[in-house]
Amino acid sequence: MSGVERRSRSHAEPAPEMSVRRRSPEPSKTKRLFVALWPTQRTRERLRTACADVIETAGGRHVPPENLHVTLTFLGSWPVAGEATLRDALADVRGDAFRLRFDRLVVWRKPRVLCLAASETPPALASLVAALETQLESLGWRRSDRLYRPHVTLARKIARQPAAGLEQPIEWPAARFSLVQSETAQEGARYRRLESWPLAREADAGADRGEE
Ligand code: 2AM
Repeated sequence: MSGVERRSRSHAEPAPEMSVRRRSPEPSKTKRLFVALWPTQRTRERLRTACADVIETAGGRHVPPENLHVTLTFLGSWPVAGEATLRDALADVRGDAFRLRFDRLVVWRKPRVLCLAASETPPALASLVAALETQLESLGWRRSDRLYRPHVTLARKIARQPAAGLEQPIEWPAARFSLVQSETAQEGARYRRLESWPLAREADAGADRGEE
């Protein structure tokens, strides 16, 4: 017998299976969701290398490379019971593939957010966001009054304005859109792609398709 002391159970102690029944945590009834463009490996690498120095000099809380994305619509807290309906509705959204060109670094002063911005919003992106919003409204979601501005958040609560800009624009070919869940982990937000849907391919937009 090992050195582990074995105590005989007194009658006062309930058998293990009867002991204090731990209530398993109730599964969450909502998920924090958003619809986004998710980068392919190649695009993520392009972002990482082009922005590394800028992010370093800005300080603050960096968005880890695996979290980089372009939000299309923010859904917020969504009932799990309505998730299948949401996925069906998103599957019906149609749009064309496009190429985004991030050519500027922008600092949003109040929240001290550093992000990549695109001087031009491709018409196919504007149409996709409009189609998503119309579809989501049919499910009771309410759109925000803010004008949609495509951006990639690179860092939050930055310490200083980066001195240099981008050396050259960063291309982001978009061939699909994704439903993403935001989870809070100890180390910060963790994003999980739940499902993706393809955009119709145009002549030169889908070069990165299928690379994930
Ligand atoms: P971002 O797109 O500017 O980085 C998940 O929370 C993602 O949804 C974040 O990337 C966040 O910002 C975006 N988002 C858009 N609107 C939001 C809102 N009202 N509240 C929280 N996050 C929002």
